[in-house]
Amino acid sequence: MIVLGIESSCDETAASVFDGKRILSDIVSSQTEIHNKYGGIVPELASRRHMEMILPVVHEALRVAGLTLSEIEGIAVTQGPGLIGALLVGISFAKAAAYAKNLPLVGVNHIEGHLTAILLEEEVKMPYLGLIVSGGHTSLYIVRAIGSYHHLGSTRDDAAGEALDKAGKLLGLGYPAGATIDRLAKEADPKGIKFPRAVIHGGAYDFSFSGLKTFLTNLVRKEGVGFAERRLNEIASGYLEAVVDMLVDKTVKAARENHLGTIVLAGGVAANSRLRQKMKDAGGEFGIGVLHPSIPLCTDNAAMIAHLGHSYLATGKRSGLDMNGIPDWPLPDM
Ligand code: KG4
Ligand code: ZN
Repeated sequence: MIVLGIESSCDETAASVFDGKRILSDIVSSQTEIHNKYGGIVPELASRRHMEMILPVVHEALRVAGLTLSEIEGIAVTQGPGLIGALLVGISFAKAAAYAKNLPLVGVNHIEGHLTAILLEEEVKMPYLGLIVSGGHTSLYIVRAIGSYHHLGSTRDDAAGEALDKAGKLLGLGYPAGATIDRLAKEADPKGIKFPRAVIHGGAYDFSFSGLKTFLTNLVRKEGVGFAERRLNEIASGYLEAVVDMLVDKTVKAARENHLGTIVLAGGVAANSRLRQKMKDAGGEFGIGVLHPSIPLCTDNAAMIAHLGHSYLATGKRSGLDMNGIPDWPLPDM
């Protein structure tokens, strides 16, 4: 079955064609330059941009795949979680196309898409431990099979990417700041400025990043004018190291305690070079393998939606034309 996947949950409009074996196209139109000056996503602007881009992005995905809409056999769309106005653009388009061409339609969970994106590139033995780290999510799941997950823990406040983006805003690095912090951090010793690691009581696999941001705010205030510019690389390096250490500690602990031999990193922050390296080193000490998708499959994309939707459509799962967006849709234990 040739499936068209559509993703519009946040600030990327994306479309992809997947034929059950290969990704035939994977088109992403990012809105970061629109939101950059506001230091975060402005939901209304995101929805408007999705409306402008959805048709050209789908056309481009079909053109690159060398197909017309009439040759598509099923449609998968991100149903949630995400910004409701943004989700509805992709969902409305998907419904209209499914209705016009009389195609089966399925709404899928964005987090589930991230957790299983690796399967487009590698054969992974299940169960594996999935760490999803993005601008909106930081959670650990045991992935037993497509459609079968067990939630182990999540952040109690900011997501890891959000913590990096907020630090970036404070340091005047623009939005999103994760990749910039990644680059700046390489220029300095992470021990130059020491940032705290959160201690969490209860919730063995939960995370917390908001204390880190408060620590940075207070530090910049205390040290006064010019400090952030003078020691930018060291701040980036120390801050990133704290985020990475908290992620690595909990994830390796979760893998060991649940007897899982593979950790899979997913989401935009999984593009981070320091996180990849430290997770590999820490996992390696216990014989735990660490995998991550290539960067285009880490950040928001529609290939992961088309792939996941293909699995569900193949098993007969369908969504009706009354499907609605689900802005807050935690992946249930299944
Ligand atoms: O998965 P994603 O594209 O969108 C969400 O669903 O949130 O993730 C975006 C997040 C942003 O917070 C961004 O700062 C972060 O991923 N990010 C990175 C890197 N590239 C993107 N964080 C650290 N290092 C990177 N290289
Ligand atoms: Zn995402």
